[in-house]
Amino acid sequence: MLEDKDRIFTNLYGQHDWGIKGAQKRGIWDNTKGLVALGREEIVNRMKDSGLRGRGGAGFPAGIKWSFMPKEDPSRPSYLVVNADESEPGSCKDREIMRNDPHRLIEGCLIAGFAMGAHTAYIYIRGEYYLESTRLEAAVEEARAAGLLGKDACGSGWAFDVHVHRGAGAYICGEETALLESLEGKKGQPRLKPPFPAACGLYGCPTTVTNVETVAVSPTILRRGADWWKQFGRENNTGTKIFSISGHVNRPCNVEEAMSIPLRELIEKHAGGVRGGWDNLLAVIPGGSSVPMLPKHVCDTMTMDFDALREAGSGLGTAAVIVMDKSTDVIEAICRLSHFYQHESCGQCTPCREGTGWMFRLMQRMVRGEADVDEIDMLWDVTKQVEGHTICALGDAAAWPIQGLIRNFRPEMEKRIEAYKQARRAAE
Ligand code: NAI
Ligand code: SF4
Repeated sequence: MLEDKDRIFTNLYGQHDWGIKGAQKRGIWDNTKGLVALGREEIVNRMKDSGLRGRGGAGFPAGIKWSFMPKEDPSRPSYLVVNADESEPGSCKDREIMRNDPHRLIEGCLIAGFAMGAHTAYIYIRGEYYLESTRLEAAVEEARAAGLLGKDACGSGWAFDVHVHRGAGAYICGEETALLESLEGKKGQPRLKPPFPAACGLYGCPTTVTNVETVAVSPTILRRGADWWKQFGRENNTGTKIFSISGHVNRPCNVEEAMSIPLRELIEKHAGGVRGGWDNLLAVIPGGSSVPMLPKHVCDTMTMDFDALREAGSGLGTAAVIVMDKSTDVIEAICRLSHFYQHESCGQCTPCREGTGWMFRLMQRMVRGEADVDEIDMLWDVTKQVEGHTICALGDAAAWPIQGLIRNFRPEMEKRIEAYKQARRAAE
């Protein structure tokens, strides 16, 4: 278990002052000028060395992503865009960072922005996070008044400012290119990639879009060093991570833990265990609603990191751990997710627009049991027609939970269909 001294987010639960004085007491803004003085290349190299992988869900190596930004291009500005549109069902970690530790994110913006050659950062925050956006704006004002942002940020000689932009409630605006469209004042619809934002992002300029937690941990990694960070987790899965644990546990919570912690230990040490005990566990969605669920026998020995979960046929995603005990109607739970994805599809590409509707309608038939057994194969086939055939990852996200259901709970689906048939026969 991670010791308190190694936790970065020491105000995750809001027990201390979130303002600038409290932040400075926690070591934030401590010689930030010295970190900037390391220089762009050195900062990027240290981030690469740490092995930090993006905390928004995809796990792309952060230092490598930062290195994609052009070295010098006086003809076009570069931008840092922080993706704070946290909307993945089950995820609420970035909310806690912005609510209780906004200066940690703002200091991270300066460091990351400088390393990318950006003078401006936009924080695109989920519209529903009203309190968090007001805290962030107040913290930005405090930082400006203290000279930590502005023409000579922290006395570093680097001009840098941060702007907070509120979203308007569309899940798809968390997809990085839809987010950029929305920030430009357009309808939030994903762009085709490539080009990736580093080549053509906000207003056609080089841009890095990156998650709140990724940016917020970067000053601490530079201060304490890549070797300190690499003590936690394992190769290719380094560092600490905030997990959001919800569902059928005794104490739902956000907690910062070492990467690669066993799932059972995470739930039992921090969330008070599964309601009714570990044996009452049915399944866990380990990384937010977009990743397939894992049945109990896999959860028994599962470790929580990118590679282990991928090998198990799921993913770490946003590290939102959704626990389902044996009282769960797992078919209905996945049907509810299908409805969510159908509702949030932007409708731009046919496989997603039509496929999410097909999947939801078939899932409703599965919930009621009125489908034929053959339709389970048809449903699987529809997920395969959608997966990998869409402009953005929402199509995959809609397909994977259903694939997880069929892979792990097909006998339950068949049982329900049989029970429905028997009930009809009895009624005739
Ligand atoms: P992705 O794998 O397409 O991209 C990840 C990042 O790496 C992006 O910033 C992308 O620009 C960059 N990248 C990838 N390949 C690159 C290349 N060849 N050159 C330059 N840059 C490159 O994944 P995506 O679509 O950004 O994220 C999907 C994940 O997001 C899902 O796995 C899900 O877990 C997560 N997600 C998180 C949500 C949240 O609320 N935090 C909401 C919904 C999904
Ligand atoms: Fe829109 Fe869905 Fe296509 Fe993404 S996959 S661009 S959400 S229609």
